[in-house]
Amino acid sequence: MSQNKNNKTVWSTRITKDTSSIFQKVGSSLSVDKRLFKEDIAGSIAHVEMLFKQKIIAFKIKNKIIWGLNKIRNEIIKKKFIFNPKHEDIHMSIEKRLFEIIGDDAGFIHTARSRNDQVITDFKIWLRNSTNEIINLLNSSIKIIVKNAEKNIETIMPGFTHLKNAQPISFAHYLLAYVEMFKRDKHRFKNNIENLLENPLGVTALAGTTFNIDRNYTTKKLKFSHPTKNSIDTISDRDFVTDFLYATSVCSVHISRLAEEFIIWNSDAFGLIKLNDRIVTGSSIMPQKKNPDQLEFLRGKTGNAFGNLFSMLTILKGLPLSYFKDLQDDKELVFKSFDQIKYSILIFNDILKNFSVNKKRMFELANKGYTTATDLADYIVIELNVPFRKAYQITAKIVNYAEVKKKRFDELSIKEIKKIEPKLNEEVLKIFNLKNSIKSKKSYGGTSFENIKKMINKYKKELK
Ligand code: ARG
Repeated sequence: MSQNKNNKTVWSTRITKDTSSIFQKVGSSLSVDKRLFKEDIAGSIAHVEMLFKQKIIAFKIKNKIIWGLNKIRNEIIKKKFIFNPKHEDIHMSIEKRLFEIIGDDAGFIHTARSRNDQVITDFKIWLRNSTNEIINLLNSSIKIIVKNAEKNIETIMPGFTHLKNAQPISFAHYLLAYVEMFKRDKHRFKNNIENLLENPLGVTALAGTTFNIDRNYTTKKLKFSHPTKNSIDTISDRDFVTDFLYATSVCSVHISRLAEEFIIWNSDAFGLIKLNDRIVTGSSIMPQKKNPDQLEFLRGKTGNAFGNLFSMLTILKGLPLSYFKDLQDDKELVFKSFDQIKYSILIFNDILKNFSVNKKRMFELANKGYTTATDLADYIVIELNVPFRKAYQITAKIVNYAEVKKKRFDELSIKEIKKIEPKLNEEVLKIFNLKNSIKSKKSYGGTSFENIKKMINKYKKELK
């Protein structure tokens, strides 16, 4: 447990027996929260500067503490700091070391502060920076997707519903769907920044403090935007954690959907894309194999992201206000989800740089399964001036006929079509051209080449 310079816990006057060694070991969060050392030291420095400004501590003591804290930061960076799991967490470890370095004056540091507000201050600063890191990474993904899309505007593929060929689309249009997903992800992460900018420091244990502190001062020093408004809520609140874990979960879902599609398209049965050797793995027994392990890895990791979100929600469910030890796990969940989404995005980016498109196969597949049937129905509506449902029936009859004859649409003659619908003429044959089909989808947000080019320009501008 956290001990002072005499190797006794802070609470040893009150609690006379040692904590069991098993709980000392597993109850310590040090191995996890040592990651917050920089934020913890920055928070402590801002805190003692404020205490001095408010005449709560003397100039000399403030300087001594700051000097000691800077020394500790260097020790940790240079890996000279000894992390002892006996000390409950990073806050106690740093305080203990401060006692060793500057003596009893270290005892002033915890005036008007509790670990309860200290830990969320550190955590929020860390999360703010890490959230921005993810947003930047998502921008890099968007750039790579747009680049791929630019190269594939005229690459024609079957759009699927129910994994059955539905309508011809541009592969670029498909890729740009992921830009929209990642833009929404960015938005979700950004939304949370508002919560992360509320400064918890100074609410102390849960009730506020008798000292004349200045929370606006630490707010500025630590680059928050304003102090939190209710001390009890501040200590109890972990919405900024669940929001982050939710945002990473949704982002993981998006990554998993592309991963799954690429796995299917790379399969021998589909053969629409080919993953290059950088992103495949071999088999220990089957010499011919090139497996899409990285995509499967990304797809699988989504489960962990959900798990972390559900763990946090479960910890919070029914938890009375304000601080309970239950909350300590919040950091481990966030660190895991952060690391995972970070490497997932990096792997995702690498995958998008290391695959090739089998344009011929994509086109052939897009031309199978009567994917222009809807175009034909639309054409009949306009040319024969009939309701859509009537046009749908006529088209279905043409599909049925072609299927029996084992012909594609573009293999039918006008004579055969006229047998089913005499009012149609030669002009109808152009409807079966896949390029024409795509060109015609000019409605806003549709797959027409024209629309795609506009969207690419828009995304590029946004990225600047
Ligand atoms: N390591 C603790 C945590 O992360 C810090 C807060 C401890 N507060 C307390 N009252 N025991 O939750």
